[in-house]
Amino acid sequence: MTGIKIDGIEIAKNVKDRVRKAVDELKKQGINPCLATILVGDNQASATYVRNKHKACEEVGIATKDFKLAANTTQLELNKIITDLNNDKSVHGILVQLPLPSQLDEFATTSRISPLKDVDGLTPHNAGLLAMKKAALVACTPSGVMEMFDYHNIALEGKTVVLINRSNLVGKPLYHLLLARDATVITCHSKTKNIKEMCQMADIIITAVGDRNKFTLTQDMIKKDAIVIDVAISRYEEKLSGDSDYEQIIQKASYATPVPGGVGPMTVAMLLKNTITAASLSSQIER
Ligand code: GUN
Repeated sequence: MTGIKIDGIEIAKNVKDRVRKAVDELKKQGINPCLATILVGDNQASATYVRNKHKACEEVGIATKDFKLAANTTQLELNKIITDLNNDKSVHGILVQLPLPSQLDEFATTSRISPLKDVDGLTPHNAGLLAMKKAALVACTPSGVMEMFDYHNIALEGKTVVLINRSNLVGKPLYHLLLARDATVITCHSKTKNIKEMCQMADIIITAVGDRNKFTLTQDMIKKDAIVIDVAISRYEEKLSGDSDYEQIIQKASYATPVPGGVGPMTVAMLLKNTITAASLSSQIER
């Protein structure tokens, strides 16, 4: 018997339906939720992600502002745009698509965003609140993964979760979200010596490496009935692929996410949800 597919398209649709209703409510109160995105340079994958985010906003009635900046944009120029957006009352969420070209500093950039408009949950303020279990705005991919667990009523208390990622956008927020739900969380990374053994003892594996030449999660690395969440997406052997082969993993896992159609759609859906939260936050403060 094979495991159950965690279908990101279906769960994202469910989130979007809720967001659509929240947008209508906000509009009745005279608030027109708006997300501003900033894309610097000509990274094709980033351009596609931003386009998808705009399309999803349109689907649920969220307005957008689209800033496409030249690859040689300076830190000062980028800072000025962020400051203007921080002060623009018609904008509720600000997203700077990552990665940035090398002349730009990721921390200097994201920490400049007003915490109230920080729909990526990347500012030190929001990252700190998350560690204290008080965050309103949490990074989209991690909160999307949590939404997937909840959709399937997957209990996390006491479960051993192995995370294969330690980034500010994925691994660290997931660590705090899972810990807050009483899971035992082990964070693995490029210098971890015994990833295979770590994975073999995990009830849940969340993998986000994104380079199959460096890492593949294979069937022999998971225990029977483990849950596998594959956050990665990259091009491998002419097709889009995660860190694992879904068809192989699902033979042994109790639940697993496919790629594409797994975590990816959840990231976009949670961005919409965060934009609504940000719009509500700023309207409460203005009242
Ligand atoms: N690049 C890849 N994923 C993300 C994300 O969730 N937010 C931003 N800002 N950049 C990304």
